[in-house]
Amino acid sequence: MKHKRLKPFPKDFLWGASSSAYQVEGASLEDGKGPSCQDVKEIPEGTSDLKVCADQYHRYKEDIALMAEMGFKSYRFSIAWTRILPKGTGEVNPKGIEYYNNLINECLKYGIEPIITMFHFDMPATLDERGSWGNPDSVQWFVDFARILYENYGDRVKYWLTINEQNVLTLSGPVIGTLHLPENCTNVLKEIYQQNHHMLVAQAKAMVLCHEMLPNAKIGPAPNISLVYPATCKPEDVIAAQNFNAIRNWLYLDMAVYGIYNAIVWSWLEENDATPTFVPGDKEAMKNAHPDFIGFNYYNTATVAASDLDAAEETALMGDQQSGREMAGIFKQVDNPNLPKTEFGWEIDPVGFRATTREMYSRYHLPLLVTENGLGAYDTLTEDGKVHDAYRIHYYQDHIRQIQESISDGTEFLGYNPWSAIDLISTHEGMVKRYGFIYVDRDEFDLKTLDRFRKDSFYWYKKVIASNGEDLSE
Ligand code: BG6
Repeated sequence: MKHKRLKPFPKDFLWGASSSAYQVEGASLEDGKGPSCQDVKEIPEGTSDLKVCADQYHRYKEDIALMAEMGFKSYRFSIAWTRILPKGTGEVNPKGIEYYNNLINECLKYGIEPIITMFHFDMPATLDERGSWGNPDSVQWFVDFARILYENYGDRVKYWLTINEQNVLTLSGPVIGTLHLPENCTNVLKEIYQQNHHMLVAQAKAMVLCHEMLPNAKIGPAPNISLVYPATCKPEDVIAAQNFNAIRNWLYLDMAVYGIYNAIVWSWLEENDATPTFVPGDKEAMKNAHPDFIGFNYYNTATVAASDLDAAEETALMGDQQSGREMAGIFKQVDNPNLPKTEFGWEIDPVGFRATTREMYSRYHLPLLVTENGLGAYDTLTEDGKVHDAYRIHYYQDHIRQIQESISDGTEFLGYNPWSAIDLISTHEGMVKRYGFIYVDRDEFDLKTLDRFRKDSFYWYKKVIASNGEDLSE
């Protein structure tokens, strides 16, 4: 169905963009901040460390002013747990509290709604040493941290996100430098899904607490959701697609929204003696938690065929957030021949964005907040200080058009906050893989001036926002 008359974007649509603390801030051990697992991990070969990043910690005023110039209605950023609690629990760092007060106030000064992610891949190193999400106490660690955030920022922050891409952490945590396995682990699947269970309970309790403490605030999860296509109409491929949809997507949203484990996933865990252990109170917490919206990151869809592998041949973990893997007898991820790829090998599927959002809305009936979407590319700064990123504009044109198609299908959206507001360090490909509307003058190892430059996409997005999504022309 192609709509002849597209419905307009809602009047108060939150146009903005995203970042995360460990990728954008720098100042990784400054003003009392403790190390996170990202600061102590082995840096992927050929990429820079996380000490400076885009240096937003020192340049937030300039950055927020640029976002305001683009007309942002929202800025989604995360709070570094170890800036607030250097050891993850216990003593609060006043300088850390102050930094986010300043950042939030700076946003509000321009009418930009802060959208706060409470956890974005940066477990405090001290808690990592104590087993991270594998430790049953992690639930309480997270809830205590959430309480501090609500107490300090809840008077001004209306939108909260719990855990960024919990599904990616579960499917490929060690690859992005977090979620580790204890030595001598005999049932890896059970260990991973126990950690996942702790995150689900922690999220549920943080949502309940948010509603208790901040009755006017809205809170939601922020997984990475990609509809999974069957490679063919062979019934076995359709079953494989349902399997991966359940494991990759619905497990997280069924739990966040309905407080139940997805049946396909639960049976698969049962077969592998890997069901998580519940402690008293878990079930109730999951049932009592009700998100107000679904925040989600979308980069592309996935395509799978039936897998005829033996467990012994199974490949280890997913390569990265989007690239595939095979689970013996469950599914095998394959390329989709209908889709082009980015320079970094991720498929590009704007129509899949519409399909994913239609499916999510039919399953959960909650408004959607896009918390990431975007194109990682090698950008070049010209001698006269320009970045001609027409490829990024085309990517966004195609995706924003599909949001409008989905709105016209009846899907409710709160906003669009693509990745990323400004260039920052990629999860594992360093500085060369850029996503921002704002270019940061630095290389992988040479910090150069760290000056900011407006990319062509900056001017284009400004026009899109000013027209509330009506003018997507270049
Ligand atoms: C998402 C993450 O998975 O994808 C971000 O939430 C990440 O932290 C983004 O940076 C893009 O991925 P990458 O690997 O290209 O940086």
